[in-house]
Amino acid sequence: MSEHDFSSLHVVTHPLLQHKLSLMRDRKTPPILFRQLLREISLLLGYEVTRDLPLTTERIETPLVEMEAPVLACPLSIVSILRAGLGMAEGLQQLIPSAREGHIGLYRDPETKKPHEYFLKLPENPGRVLLVDPMLATGGSAAHAVDVLLRNGIAREDLRLVTLVCAPEGVQVFAKAHPDVPIYTAALDEKLNEKAYILPGLGDAGDRLFGTL
Ligand code: PRP
Ligand code: URA
Repeated sequence: MSEHDFSSLHVVTHPLLQHKLSLMRDRKTPPILFRQLLREISLLLGYEVTRDLPLTTERIETPLVEMEAPVLACPLSIVSILRAGLGMAEGLQQLIPSAREGHIGLYRDPETKKPHEYFLKLPENPGRVLLVDPMLATGGSAAHAVDVLLRNGIAREDLRLVTLVCAPEGVQVFAKAHPDVPIYTAALDEKLNEKAYILPGLGDAGDRLFGTL
């Protein structure tokens, strides 16, 4: 399957991004480097994800003249799916320091593979929301997180999902549940294995990020 099979999927390609993702996939990469690479890739992804943010203007004075200067027209929030989303939020926060932050705590039941919610804290007036989680495997966690955001008054058109690696199965599930929420990713991998891990993937992102293997 390719990006063209899913109209809401955007696979962002860039030589630096692909090189860094290969380092992340390598089982020998230790947590400290894994975390740094996730931060750097998220920053590069963030540049594409925010490309069409609306602008307004503000009157400012340069040292020489007055001008109407372009500035972001609306607030932006980064909502991480815990735990692994925290690693992506770090990079995006560096790119957009004014962004507000929210967190949705989810873990995947090892038997059923269904998401369980254990934490929720969202910013007030979040504006545009970047929902971040590096792994889209069965798609259950991301689809559930969008349901939570919609229930909390965030408009569909203000949402986009930012991931690192997707499985085709997960994209299919997510796109069926939320066809109008764009998905940005650095890679569309081959498939899921029998334990619903992405192949070739990079393993358990949360464990590799926090060294809890
Ligand atoms: C991982 C990952 C996603 C989810 C993806 O989290 O970070 O949230 O699995 O799987 P899905 O698409 O099949 O729902 P996990 O449940 O392992 O929790 P953790 O981040 O706390 O390790
Ligand atoms: N969660 C992960 O962290 N990795 C996978 O491959 C699947 C789910």
